[in-house]
Amino acid sequence: MNRTPFVAGNWKMNKTAAEARALINVLRDPLRGIAGVEKVVCPPFTSIFAIASLLDGSGVGLGAQDMHWEEKGAFTGEVAPNMVKEFCGYVIVGHSERRAYFSETDETVNRKLRAALKFDLIPIVCVGETLDQYESGLTGEVVSRQMKLGFADVDSAHASRIVVAYEPVWAIGTGKASSGENANYVHAKVIRPALSELFGESNAQAIRILYGGSVTAANASEFFSQSDIDGALVGGASLKPDEFVAIVKSSKESKGE
Ligand code: PGA
Repeated sequence: MNRTPFVAGNWKMNKTAAEARALINVLRDPLRGIAGVEKVVCPPFTSIFAIASLLDGSGVGLGAQDMHWEEKGAFTGEVAPNMVKEFCGYVIVGHSERRAYFSETDETVNRKLRAALKFDLIPIVCVGETLDQYESGLTGEVVSRQMKLGFADVDSAHASRIVVAYEPVWAIGTGKASSGENANYVHAKVIRPALSELFGESNAQAIRILYGGSVTAANASEFFSQSDIDGALVGGASLKPDEFVAIVKSSKESKGE
């Protein structure tokens, strides 16, 4: 199955609007030149409007890092799916930092995922185990549960639009990436079978599963050369233009036709 490689940069809480414009001005032309890879940047909300017009015609998509599931109302500090949709094609859902620091649960992840699909956004749904869970051999169990609860009541008609990111919490921002082989095992033996159970085998084969956690230009090809790793969700390295461009190029070289 040929799945178009997908590389997204999660800028997290970095870059003012002015800094975001400067970064996009550097990234835009090199990224435009790399065809055959779906490329996305996810800046903080305050920079989304600031860079949207700079990305016109660049072939680079824009994503939010989170959103609320309600369309409007008394939810101080929140941003609604239709507001995200005004500027973005993508949204990250259930990042482990949101689960750990902002009380996100599989249930809120599920609500956000269903709202994203309703508003025609492409959700990048994050799953992954903590270090304790990894060391206790609970990865399969934890990730299967996150998949089952997070994807409950999602209509398989929407399945092919979904992107899943496997991000072991112990690998995020630590400089200690998973091995390609370990990540591929979780993709191929845990996540894709869970998707098959939810949406059927042919849908499961079409869904992109990204790896995230300390991806750099130096280790990217180790991941992209694996059978079931279809791209990357990149944090720290997405703020360094040369690194991010090299990661996108590497996905094309390993996966492209
Ligand atoms: P990292 O973050 O690449 O800085 O480890 C990845 C992520 O949290 O999406």
